[in-house]
Amino acid sequence: QTMQSSPMKSSMTGVAGDRKKPFLIGVGGGTASGKSTVCEKIMNEVVERQNGTERQIIALSQDSFYKELDAKEILMAEKGTFNFDHPDAFDHELMLQCLREIQNGKPTKVPVYDFKTNSRKKGEFTIVYPSDVVLLEGILVFYHKDVRELFDMKLFVDTDADTRLARRVLRDIEDRGRDLEHIILQYTTLVKPAFEEFCLPTKKFADVIIPRGADNTVAIELVAQHIQDIIWSRISSSKSGSPFTRSRSNSD
Ligand code: CTP
Repeated sequence: QTMQSSPMKSSMTGVAGDRKKPFLIGVGGGTASGKSTVCEKIMNEVVERQNGTERQIIALSQDSFYKELDAKEILMAEKGTFNFDHPDAFDHELMLQCLREIQNGKPTKVPVYDFKTNSRKKGEFTIVYPSDVVLLEGILVFYHKDVRELFDMKLFVDTDADTRLARRVLRDIEDRGRDLEHIILQYTTLVKPAFEEFCLPTKKFADVIIPRGADNTVAIELVAQHIQDIIWSRISSSKSGSPFTRSRSNSD
């Protein structure tokens, strides 16, 4: 699980005082579709295109906003019978509050989630400092209208279900300390039905659908270039005081 707490590249001169609203990007898609890798690749591409203007770009995960479980739910989670793919599993209000703070350019405290214990790490937070671009990835980032409307750009990572299941099995065994039986039970009874009921219908809200996820370098480069164009337009409009207009042939 990747969660970038600090900007990929920090400008030595950029202080919180001169910050404006960040460009907020939502990255949705099914479990193990490659959302985190897509975010990482976009961040790397944007950083490579900086041309001397060091802008800050960070990625967050919706997983940070999983709710705390009660005693009964903890036992269910240990058996693979707690539904972590239902919208109710997330602390929607907290996520909305954090995103609003981020959008207003304020430093924000985000909880740290531990998949091995199915709970937040007590007393641990990631401080998210104001950035130019903020990516938020998660299975249900487009589920609630109020969150959805905060995004300036919405991407949906569309990877085949068999590829996702294969990746999830390996990842849950290696990184999340689960056994195969538990993973398959959870996937067939909870993850897959919830994907079809809650995640897949949100694909229609995406501005860009990225087939094959992180393997799709063309899509990643196009998105990164678009982000870079927006960053540039913001820089030049703040310098000149007038809106930046990109040169486009207006030949009709
Ligand atoms: N999940 C879990 N146990 C928890 C919390 C969440 O098994 N205690 C599972 C949920 O079943 C859900 C998944 O974690 O399906 C959400 O994470 P996922 O989107 O798979 O991971 P990311 O790394 O965010 O995504 P990607 O692999 O696409 O980068």
